[in-house]
Amino acid sequence: MVNRAEIGVIGGSGFYSLLEDAEEIGVSTPYGPPSDTITVGRIGERQVAFIPRHGRGHVHPPHRIPYRANLWALRSLGVRQVLAPSAVGSLRAEIGPGALVVPDQLVDRTAGRVQTYYDAGGAVHVSFADPYCPLGRAAATATARDADWDLVDGGTLVVVEGPRFSTRAESQWFQSAGWSIIGMTGHPEAVLARELALCYTTLALVTDHDAGVEAGEGVTHEEVLAFFAANVERMRSLVRDVVQALPHERTCPCGDALDGIKLPFELP
Ligand code: ADE
Repeated sequence: MVNRAEIGVIGGSGFYSLLEDAEEIGVSTPYGPPSDTITVGRIGERQVAFIPRHGRGHVHPPHRIPYRANLWALRSLGVRQVLAPSAVGSLRAEIGPGALVVPDQLVDRTAGRVQTYYDAGGAVHVSFADPYCPLGRAAATATARDADWDLVDGGTLVVVEGPRFSTRAESQWFQSAGWSIIGMTGHPEAVLARELALCYTTLALVTDHDAGVEAGEGVTHEEVLAFFAANVERMRSLVRDVVQALPHERTCPCGDALDGIKLPFELP
């Protein structure tokens, strides 16, 4: 089942109509099934595979998403570059709802999620100093700028375990550390992509100010869903344009992530 797609998109279920000539396929992996069937199709000249991160009907909460199966399934289809649109909260007053952040750093505040493929058969330590693909980020920021997004190029995404939102104190703490945005799904997705030598780029749509930024009620689930739903068409259009702006040749370091490392198994 190789080379059905070159680019993977892991995003909300609102992205189903992203692809032309779409076909749905079931993929099995050594880590169980992915979040849902995978839609494979075309955007312009590019072959793309789409996985709805939370599954149809939003059945997988952030801490129970089958992250390993999702990335493995994409790689087994031939995918080498992954775009990850997601909803995030802002930790800064000046980054408001509607902004698009393309982070360049990540802080993992999750707990208890399996975050490696290499937990048996020998130690594999991938470099993760720069968690995101520089070429993917460049394509995303140039495209968003052209499309007049309120763009934030760079910044740190802190990923919390969820499914609850943060307390005001936690949120103020994250803010005081200098981090920009907060979400629940960016990790271990990013590191698992790196462990499979995939390029990975987050496109973070700010849906709310997190609890520590403004006095008030704090963020609610309804608020996040409603904001994302209202912006899904814009996001879909952005993802389509970024897909087409991604390089055909990977000249970034992402594909070399496993060079010189003895792997306990073959990658798909
Ligand atoms: N996703 C969207 N908004 C969020 C927030 N404030 N905290 C964590 N995840 C989020």
